[in-house]
Amino acid sequence: PGAAVSGPVAVLVGAPGAGKSTVGMAVAARLGVAFRDTDADVESNLGMSVSDVFLEHGEEYFRAAERAAVLTALAEHPGVLALGGGAVLDAGVRAELARHWVVYLDVTASDAAKRVGLARDRPLLVEGPRTRLAALLKARRPLYEEVAAITVDTAALGIDDVVAAILIEL
Ligand code: S3P
Repeated sequence: PGAAVSGPVAVLVGAPGAGKSTVGMAVAARLGVAFRDTDADVESNLGMSVSDVFLEHGEEYFRAAERAAVLTALAEHPGVLALGGGAVLDAGVRAELARHWVVYLDVTASDAAKRVGLARDRPLLVEGPRTRLAALLKARRPLYEEVAAITVDTAALGIDDVVAAILIEL
């Protein structure tokens, strides 16, 4: 690391189901710092769930709210930060991420589909998680790789090993 003058000690990016929240919380706990998630920031800023924002206002509106939440958190959150899976679509976010230590959690579409099946609502994935995630990963992998200082391939690793791989680089 070292590039960032302030802000998060680590920023996690990756597709829905990559494990950003689980890994981020564990890394934060090990470091004794706070964990923050930009989806939760958007929800508290707008007073509604991410799903409701998509339903009532559409994706473009969500992306604008997400961009604002991400830039704020990058400027002021001193702990571990997880970004919503689509945050890297924004060129301004990607430019800002160049100043931070970013970890890309790479995941296969089938592993991600298994995880999102167990978790909360994912409005972009209603058509069928595995197919959508495969398309999403194909489109976004270059963007995740562009912003990442390190990539952790989660396919062969359990949560503890993913956390250890990040801590060793910090
Ligand atoms: C999205 C990912 C979600 C959430 C929204 C859109 C995406 O966050 O921001 O549903 O475009 O990949 P998670 O990656 O935390 O699921």
